[in-house]
Amino acid sequence: MAGDKSGENTMKKKLIVSNWKMQPTTLAEAEQILDLVDEYLGSLSERELNLVFCPPFVFTEEVGKILKTSHLLHQSGLGAQDISTDDRMALTGEVSGPMLKKLGARYVIVGHSERRWKLGESDEVVNKKLKAVLRNEMMPIVAVGEKTRDDNFEDFLKEQVLNTFAGLSAEEVARCIIAYEPVWAISTTPGARPDTPESALESVEVIKETLATALQSTALPRYLYGGSITSVNAREFLSNDGFDGVLIGGASTNKEEFVKILAIASKL
Ligand code: 13P
Repeated sequence: MAGDKSGENTMKKKLIVSNWKMQPTTLAEAEQILDLVDEYLGSLSERELNLVFCPPFVFTEEVGKILKTSHLLHQSGLGAQDISTDDRMALTGEVSGPMLKKLGARYVIVGHSERRWKLGESDEVVNKKLKAVLRNEMMPIVAVGEKTRDDNFEDFLKEQVLNTFAGLSAEEVARCIIAYEPVWAISTTPGARPDTPESALESVEVIKETLATALQSTALPRYLYGGSITSVNAREFLSNDGFDGVLIGGASTNKEEFVKILAIASKL
């Protein structure tokens, strides 16, 4: 399909990525979310959405099976929230790229701010994980974003982007989905407030310029916005040409709220 980068029905459709983090806590609740989404997809007259679900690792296999059924089949893909830096090594507790691939994961989130700032994951580790996703032929969803929107935020972002994408070719960067997700806008950050599309696009411009200068060419990755997306602000981001979609945390685990967001997306 012309313009289709993922092999799914992505043509002009915005990507809606659910990062469930450590929710829901039971498989039964995960099934309830997916059941309601499936029911909503069944009410649409055509295949209109392009969804990715990144469940807690323990539900990956079961969620993957559900995504292969019913209306979810052609409108959703399975993602992972993390990956090991190495494919084969003695690394206690880690899950390797080949293992995720075998479970059916097609997308992997790397560089999420919770891993960077709460778990101490350095840019160097994120860079190795990004390479692991590419090496295993899955699609990286690379999260970048400043901690505070102060006078230095552009320099912060530039350095993070240069370190995160270090050593990648323009062709590899083009295979990435870059999620601009400012830490201050994530719903669980104390005092969080969503960014606006206008200000988020300024940051996307910084990311694009940094990559273009480093790569000496214009790579064309897809760009998502993440940070306190709800049914209240989903339309302004999803209808903005500067974004190819959204990365949603909290609201993606509230099934009614999530379906409201899907209803907005399907009517764009
Ligand atoms: P919220 O949508 O809860 O702000 O989380 C955003 C996020 O971290 C998605 O990866």
